[in-house]
Amino acid sequence: MADNRPIGVFDSGVGGLTVFREIMKKMPDEKVVYFGDTARVPYGDRDPAQVVDFSRQIVRFLRTHNVKAVVIACNTATAPSLPYLRAENDIPIIGVIQPGARGACAASASGKIGVIATAGTIKSGQYPKHIKEIRPEAEVFGKACPKFVPLIEAGKTHAEETAAVVHEYLGELKDKGIDALVMGCTHYPLLRDLLQKECGEGITLVNPAEETVKELHETLAASDGLASCGDALPAHEYYCSGDPESFRAFAAKVLPQEVSQVGVIDIDKY
Ligand code: DGL
Repeated sequence: MADNRPIGVFDSGVGGLTVFREIMKKMPDEKVVYFGDTARVPYGDRDPAQVVDFSRQIVRFLRTHNVKAVVIACNTATAPSLPYLRAENDIPIIGVIQPGARGACAASASGKIGVIATAGTIKSGQYPKHIKEIRPEAEVFGKACPKFVPLIEAGKTHAEETAAVVHEYLGELKDKGIDALVMGCTHYPLLRDLLQKECGEGITLVNPAEETVKELHETLAASDGLASCGDALPAHEYYCSGDPESFRAFAAKVLPQEVSQVGVIDIDKY
């Protein structure tokens, strides 16, 4: 029996759309209800306890849509919130950090792995912890990149100004001799072109979204929870807490499907 209830996906802003895109690609029958907390982005420099509160509000909102699972499509929210959300909810809650660590370990031959992420994710120490659980000999080099999210939210994903910031942040990681670089913030795959250019051929960029969607698929399949929508495309729903038109315009660029309507949510009510 198929389970056609939607999957809830959230991020502080538009970054989680890179995970949503991967769900659309690999699990095309699944309907997604997406929430971007665009009024409160960025989360990267916020206190972890506040990020947990925000995540709880968002999960409460998503559950009003009768979601069968939630993907925390945000590393900064996954780091402090995952254990709480799992303990407090009776549906699967999937984070992005453990899957990202698995992807990194598979991509690196030398075990020298770079992680770029928000200050919150780097401070949490979650990437080195999960990478070393799989490969204890690995050397993990983290770099907080606080200027990236505001540039991406402003749509400057290919700007000269952004290329200069990429150069500034990546220099010290390249000097460490890494052969894999985790894009440890779901916004960063939107900078893939600039990042790959800066890294050159010898460094593999790891997008945690790929392993995250594998985990989502396995989790739902294990409980007979996959959807089946036949020939019809699922009618995804989009919500944000800030300006719906800028969210819509951004989502339309990132996703392969038209985004016609975006609802605005007063998330503090949840
Ligand atoms: N996209 C988010 C992440 O994966 C964080 C962006 C932010 O709000 O700072 O960490």
